[in-house]
Amino acid sequence: MTDLASPLTIAGVTLRNRIIMPPMANNKADDDGHVTDTLVEHYLRHAAGGPGMIVVEHSYITLAGRVHAHQLGIWSDDHVSGLARLAEAIHAGEAAAVIQITHAGSRSPQEAIGTTAVSPSGIAVPGDKEEPRIMSSEEIEAIPALFAAAAARARAAGFDGVEVHGAHGYLLDQFMSPYTNHRDDDHGGSLEGRLRLIEQTLGAVRHELGPGVLMYRLGADDAPVPGITPEDAAEIATYLEAWGVDLIDCSGGLCGSRPADRTEPGFFVDAGAAVKRAVSIPVAAVGGITDPAYADDLVRREILDAVCVGRAQLKDPAWARKALETLR
Ligand SMILES: Cc1cc2nc3c(=O)[nH]c(=O)nc-3n(C[C@H](O)[C@H](O)[C@H](O)COP(=O)(O)O)c2cc1C
Repeated sequence: MTDLASPLTIAGVTLRNRIIMPPMANNKADDDGHVTDTLVEHYLRHAAGGPGMIVVEHSYITLAGRVHAHQLGIWSDDHVSGLARLAEAIHAGEAAAVIQITHAGSRSPQEAIGTTAVSPSGIAVPGDKEEPRIMSSEEIEAIPALFAAAAARARAAGFDGVEVHGAHGYLLDQFMSPYTNHRDDDHGGSLEGRLRLIEQTLGAVRHELGPGVLMYRLGADDAPVPGITPEDAAEIATYLEAWGVDLIDCSGGLCGSRPADRTEPGFFVDAGAAVKRAVSIPVAAVGGITDPAYADDLVRREILDAVCVGRAQLKDPAWARKALETLR
């Protein structure tokens, strides 16, 4: 029987178990996004703690998509040597190394980018105060190449693959959600229109990545914002599978990663389960998973293929090792 301790092979890369450390921003890079010793030590410590995979925190593909002055960057070839230190640190702990690549769209604050943020339709994500501007078609068409260049840098740095950030109200999520995308051109309207930028981005990323691991963090539930539902996410997942995604990592959409009204264990597990029922590629989900027995049960009952454990691993870098010992 498959359980939390069982290996999982994704695109030729074998995870020693089914515990994933999801991306969690430290904001400890330098002013231009370069890796610092503090970050290397952080990932060394966490990989040694036993997860099957670490997804390095969100790394901005262009200044216009940054959210924090000290966010990790992957927008220039200058970043590759520092990023290689992170991939090496994670591999030293025998975890698979993936890095999340991102553009925050309207969620980029003026103080982080020095100008007004971009968005599909000039509609802010609920809770955000700054009003974004509407992207031109030319600006939209430039996005896939920015993600692809970031993926090429990740490969050059020795990562096993990338996770494209399509959750938490960031740019690709803003295009996907009918709440934030009111465009009437090729990049809006129907579901296919709202997904077009995602399709183009995944195609461009796959081209640069070759056979590497391509993961997608899906904003699988916008509630309470009226937008994407888990049922919509299940349908969208079938497109992601067709476009070559190797693993779907289900999280929140416009409601963010840790909505105040969701405190129960596994708060995006139902959304992940709906997605898993719709596709044949591996599916993971995140949100309030802290109990090893619960995590194990999700895998044993084939509700998920892998579990993302965030804050519990941040608090205790050895969470994975201890969890597997407890279950033995
Ligand atoms: C400090 C911190 C930083 C985070 N940074 C990111 C990030 O860079 N990218 C991302 O997709 N999610 C990010 N998240 C969300 C986590 O990946 C995860 O989805 C969330 O914490 C819920 O899982 P948990 O309950 O297991 O912590 C962050 C969460 C925390 C607590």
